[in-house]
Amino acid sequence: MDTHEFREVGHRMVDLLSEYLEHIEERPLFADVEPAKLNKLFAEPLPQNPSSSDEVLQQIQEKLLPYCTHVGHPGYFGLITPSPNLMGILADFICSALNQNVGAYTIGPSAVAMERRTVQWLAELVGYGEQAGGNLTSGGTMANFIGLKLARDYASKDRAQHDGIRDRWAVYTSEERHVSVDKAVDAVGVGRAWLRALPTDDEFRVRIDALETAIAEDKRDGVQPMCIVGMFGTTNTGAVDSLPDLRRIADREGMWLHADAAYGGGMLVSHEWPMGNKGLELADSVTMDPHKWFYAPLDAGAVLVKDERRLTLSFGMKPAYLTDQMDRTNERYQYYVHGFEQSRRFRSLKVWMSFKRYGAREIGNWIDANIRHAQRLHRLVEGHPDFEAANRPAMSAICIRYRGDDMDESESKQLHAEVASRVERSGRFWISTTEMKGRTWFRINPVNFRTRPEHMDELFALLRRECELAVQAKKAANRRMA
Ligand SMILES: Cc1ncc(COP(=O)(O)O)c(C=O)c1O
Repeated sequence: MDTHEFREVGHRMVDLLSEYLEHIEERPLFADVEPAKLNKLFAEPLPQNPSSSDEVLQQIQEKLLPYCTHVGHPGYFGLITPSPNLMGILADFICSALNQNVGAYTIGPSAVAMERRTVQWLAELVGYGEQAGGNLTSGGTMANFIGLKLARDYASKDRAQHDGIRDRWAVYTSEERHVSVDKAVDAVGVGRAWLRALPTDDEFRVRIDALETAIAEDKRDGVQPMCIVGMFGTTNTGAVDSLPDLRRIADREGMWLHADAAYGGGMLVSHEWPMGNKGLELADSVTMDPHKWFYAPLDAGAVLVKDERRLTLSFGMKPAYLTDQMDRTNERYQYYVHGFEQSRRFRSLKVWMSFKRYGAREIGNWIDANIRHAQRLHRLVEGHPDFEAANRPAMSAICIRYRGDDMDESESKQLHAEVASRVERSGRFWISTTEMKGRTWFRINPVNFRTRPEHMDELFALLRRECELAVQAKKAANRRMA
């Protein structure tokens, strides 16, 4: 492929994608297709001979596009993967063309500077000062892992990097945390058995009395408190833990406080429901995911650290082959010395370009609209006797359940799963189910700038209809059995 062909195919690709995005709502959101069929579509040996660009593009149109989950569809209310903003999509194209490796200054000087500024913007949103730093990561999972690694090294007075873990340590978090916290305590050597997943109150915030009890019991048993992971926007309901209380307890016990704002970080640019006063800046480190509620395309997560030096103490290694002998004035920032990853995609480009193109103001408008969507659904649910909501939405995530027809929990679980699957088959919406406090819920999270209020009305009408049909089908089956 020469640059002439690149230009020609590139223009056609942009046309194809513009068409796709313009008509995204007309597509069935989720393809009704068996996995075996998809595997068969791609079952071919490693190509030995070239194909024309036309043929390759044709295959993309035939084999990939029709079977995508169209997350940019306004009815996608699923697993916190928002509609990617258009400037961000273009940014990823530039990113691949330039292929800057922000792991090391010498492979992307201007990219490193841009990433430093983007990290600074995010840190300012948190409320951190000039000492703050961070890394753009593959997502919240990697950011939570880095947060836990910082916590472990801090708690060991910087011995664990060398000696591993010698004492018994415990990490405290909410029963509503994301599973990446469990993975992180495993990966840093603490072990999942030492993660204390504490009960929450009626608003799904971690209970401070339960935290105090767990710490006291651990200390009595010779287990050392290492870290608290506070939630700033839980996956299910957007709950925000009381970070000032968590800070006070962490200080008293000499613990690190990490806050998971992977989803909730978006609230920091909300105009109508700003959450800058919830104490996020009190955390020692924060996970934030621009690829969630800043509408950046995947992947773009971030770990932000109040004192950037902690990153260097935790990760700082300089093998000879990477040491930059040209850096005579010691000004070239080497991300690999201050983070876990070495080769790293220039993720900040799409975050930077999105903030430049739309401004925090426009992104905040999208966020406020999504919160209003959740509130609208909440009002509909409140007005219907057969449905209930877990709580008033704190952000855009809302959990609701069908409570008609006196079902036991196992029947209710089956009904919710069946209805969610029928919603998927409708091609109009995608929602998930979840469990909280021993009950099954529909989990609905509008994080999409194409969603309009009427989509919420349509979704609720569909849920009502499908729940009633499922109940009738169950009754008919019972009658046949009797
Ligand atoms: C609260 C929270 N933390 C962490 C994560 C993990 O983020 P990622 O999927 O970007 O790895 C998620 C994902 O939904 C989340 O909701």
